[in-house]
Amino acid sequence: MTIRKITCAVAALALAFAVHAAEAAEIQWFGQSALKITTPGGKVIIVDPFITKNPKTPKELKDLKKLGKVDLVMITHGHGDHVGDSVEIAKMNNAKIVLNADMGRTFATLGWIGMKQLVRINKSGPVKPIGDGITITMVRAEHSSEVVYTDDKKKQSMHPGGEPAGYIIKLEDGYTIYHAGDTGVFADMKFIAEYYKPDVAFLPIGGWFTMDPTHAAYAVKNLLKTKTVVPFHYGTFGLLKGTPAEFKAALGNFPTNVVVMKLGETRTFK
Ligand code: NI
Repeated sequence: MTIRKITCAVAALALAFAVHAAEAAEIQWFGQSALKITTPGGKVIIVDPFITKNPKTPKELKDLKKLGKVDLVMITHGHGDHVGDSVEIAKMNNAKIVLNADMGRTFATLGWIGMKQLVRINKSGPVKPIGDGITITMVRAEHSSEVVYTDDKKKQSMHPGGEPAGYIIKLEDGYTIYHAGDTGVFADMKFIAEYYKPDVAFLPIGGWFTMDPTHAAYAVKNLLKTKTVVPFHYGTFGLLKGTPAEFKAALGNFPTNVVVMKLGETRTFK
């Protein structure tokens, strides 16, 4: 091999590595359970976009136009701090919303959004609503779900929100994200870990409505054993008292990489 050929091969390798490095997933946290996932292929997925009314979302991120192009919206359950701005974002981008089938029907019958813009699914039925590269599977969550509608006179009515859920999001390069939604501990977390092999798990730790730090640590140590864990759904309201420090302490020296994100921060996951 000539020097020139070797140089070319090294350059090609470097380029391949650079391209690969740029292909990792970028995830931005808006507080509570709101994530913006930019996939290696450049698709943008928003999960549980509680943004404009989220007391912890940094002010400069509250303008929904600043999200840029959004390809898909996903909602784990019907509570207001998860439904958030989902309908508005979907309409702004002509993007579809993935949600449980029953909550989807509620959204449509309330006139919030047309059925055609909804991807109404249920657990263990993988879908690919934005192309073959990305697979979304709804998984169990131990929680509740209801949709509250407030009419013009500020009178509220309750509507079926189907069952709460978490999601497994498998990206183009195989990187797999587990967004647990709101949940308590449940033994099927072991199934989720074994079957989907998530690379990262976003887990609620705030307590009261979801796992507290001790329960979340139990779930990681005994059921999920995920390599990387990001705590979320804490500190947004006074009742959600659990902290990442308590979560870390409860994990002890268990070999999981705990990534504590700052509000509004974007991180690369690979
Ligand atoms: Ni909830």
